Amino acid sequence: MQRLWILCFVLILGGGPGFSQQPATSSPASSAKVYNLRKPSRDGTGKIYQGREIAQVMGHLGASWLERPEREQEERTDLLLKALQLKPTDVVADIGAGTGYFTFLMAPKLSKGKVLAVDIQPEMITYLTEGKAKHKVSNVEPVLGTESNPKLMASSIDIAILIDAYHEFSYPREMMEHITSALKPGGRVVLVEYRAEDPSVPIKELHKLSVAQATKEMKAAGLKLLKNDDRLPQQHIMFFGK
Ligand SMILES: C[S@@+](CC[C@H](N)C(=O)[O-])C[C@H]1O[C@@H](n2cnc3c(N)ncnc32)[C@H](O)[C@@H]1O
Repeated sequence: MQRLWILCFVLILGGGPGFSQQPATSSPASSAKVYNLRKPSRDGTGKIYQGREIAQVMGHLGASWLERPEREQEERTDLLLKALQLKPTDVVADIGAGTGYFTFLMAPKLSKGKVLAVDIQPEMITYLTEGKAKHKVSNVEPVLGTESNPKLMASSIDIAILIDAYHEFSYPREMMEHITSALKPGGRVVLVEYRAEDPSVPIKELHKLSVAQATKEMKAAGLKLLKNDDRLPQQHIMFFGK
């Protein structure tokens, strides 16, 4: 009888069986320990993670900037595609895919694989869905994630690529923990970020990231830097693994 009372008490406090199924890292209590708040700076959220102020999310109204014709030359997306050394069988998660500018460059390289194109803005999911017809590809699956969860299955992806997106994740620790558990054995995480070390890169400070800062933040999610490739004109290509 006493055991029954203890069980009822635990279930009430814990909110029932569903409570224990939530990832611990998603709870507000654990977030409070990981993040600090201060007055937001311009373009910032005021939310601090590992000493870095998280940038504001680029809204879907910026879609035309992502699709600008000069982007290929400015960012040399052809070189980025080469640096990734994709295999035809790879399952790639493009997290923070936006309009799918890079998703639709990768998809044709994956004749036996696919791209899971994750974003949190429903408008971006619409761009991605329409993009499949426009680019005539069937191996792209748009995925509506949440700010803290990319909704990927455990051990399901070979590569997670985050292009110009990680610095604006509102819950970077939770996101990276989910992404890490979604990697297959030997899987890689690739962060493509404007170089914070280079003041001549004409991008707002909070939208850049240094190798040292990225390495520190990835380490907190159980990832180590394997390689930093600086072949692009303005961005780092940082490869991480478990
Ligand atoms: C600057 S855009 C870059 C889009 C794309 N990677 C590109 O390079 O064209 C950043 C994207 O990240 C998305 N984003 C922000 N936080 C996210 C999160 N927690 N999970 C998934 N996507 C997120 C935004 O909605 C936005 O579409």
